[in-house]
Amino acid sequence: MITLCHMNDIEEGASKGFEVLNKYLFAVKKDDRLFVYYNYCPHLGTPLEWQEDRFLGSDGALIQCSTHGALFVIENGQCILGPCKGKRLKAIPFLIGNGFVMVEENEISTLGRL
Ligand code: FES
Repeated sequence: MITLCHMNDIEEGASKGFEVLNKYLFAVKKDDRLFVYYNYCPHLGTPLEWQEDRFLGSDGALIQCSTHGALFVIENGQCILGPCKGKRLKAIPFLIGNGFVMVEENEISTLGRL
């Protein structure tokens, strides 16, 4: 297992990016729940963030791709507006142990083009 961070390292309503095994991931905390995704826009495969650790639109309600503005539901990664409407971000399974967020090495090393 690979540890991404501690649950408390991400504030409520905020997001955080990670580089693991040369792949990019990000996590969003909403209503005290955590969601982890592959940082790869289903439109062109670019990373989504505006700035370091900034993956959400200005009101914090949706994930937004910084390249062409596609909007994704935080809870399921579904694109609801933009050039990849109907596609989804790839959710990454994770475990929480002692407050630490961990992912399977295998899940990450096999990530590639979607
Ligand atoms: S690359 Fe994300 S919307 Fe175009």
